[in-house]
Amino acid sequence: MSGQNTGIVTLVGAGPGDPDLLTIGALRALERAEVVVFDNLICPEILEHASAAELIDVGKLPFGKQTAQETINGILVREGSLGRNVVRLKGGDPFIFGRGTEEIEALHRAGVPFRVIPGVTSLNGVLGSAGVALTSRGRNRGFAVFTGAGVSDASEFKLWAEYPGPVVVYMGIHRAQEIATQFIASGRSPSEPVTIVVRGGTPREVIAETTLAELPTTLSDPSEWTPGIIAIGVSREHAFRARPLDGKLVVLGKEPLDGPASDTLRALGARPVRGVNHVPVHPFAREIELPARIEGR
Ligand SMILES: C[S@@+](CC[C@H](N)C(=O)[O-])C[C@H]1O[C@@H](n2cnc3c(N)ncnc32)[C@H](O)[C@@H]1O
Repeated sequence: MSGQNTGIVTLVGAGPGDPDLLTIGALRALERAEVVVFDNLICPEILEHASAAELIDVGKLPFGKQTAQETINGILVREGSLGRNVVRLKGGDPFIFGRGTEEIEALHRAGVPFRVIPGVTSLNGVLGSAGVALTSRGRNRGFAVFTGAGVSDASEFKLWAEYPGPVVVYMGIHRAQEIATQFIASGRSPSEPVTIVVRGGTPREVIAETTLAELPTTLSDPSEWTPGIIAIGVSREHAFRARPLDGKLVVLGKEPLDGPASDTLRALGARPVRGVNHVPVHPFAREIELPARIEGR
């Protein structure tokens, strides 16, 4: 410990993008922060809660701007050692494919006090919001999760394929061909359903429903599908699809995105968005315009 001046570094899970999925703990930490060290957050709006803080962007985009993990660790140690109240804001949950362990190790080695506020991970935050239930009584008692990043050996994909239930893949968009090939080679049916959610919880969310055999074709241009999560062997719930405005984007007029009109639209299955800048570009997203005022509201 470097003495009286040492601050606290709080690793905060920001959730996968939708501000509604921030926890109360995350909100409080942001409001009190003097410095926020943040990743390439899907929803910059979240930073508005840290109105008094200095913001340090260490965003790591796949194939884009990169800040080395050692540099990030160094910033956290430096800011904590200066006695500042630091929030290290991370997408989803810090300990689920989030390199949180490396950051707390560095803080521990430097004697900087830290705490962790877990976040909603994409697994339930993104898939759940899209209507994918990973367990259901009488249907399955478990599911498996792995990351496609760093898999160097086909036998590793086979290992996951052998799990007797749904399998969720983080960072797997670029591995679609290998996933499909190895899963089918391991005996899973080519017609097994696959659900992909891209930019989940943001105005540019895309949900695609395909099959194992069709997965490589669906994801043939991976750059359009990041960040995305893949759920193999599970579909969107029938009750979700059956809602009258399922899959529709509704461009709101003056009503706020977090107001009662939005609540009504969401309950009908639609996704309310604001203005033309938020209209998704992907063909899977269909767009309709409704009057901002919903009848019967
Ligand atoms: C480096 S990992 C970080 C995971 C994060 N710690 C979590 O708990 O969700 C990034 C991967 O998470 C998934 N992901 C994160 N946010 C997402 C979102 N809004 N929609 C879909 N997938 C997302 C994607 O698989 C992406 O490649």
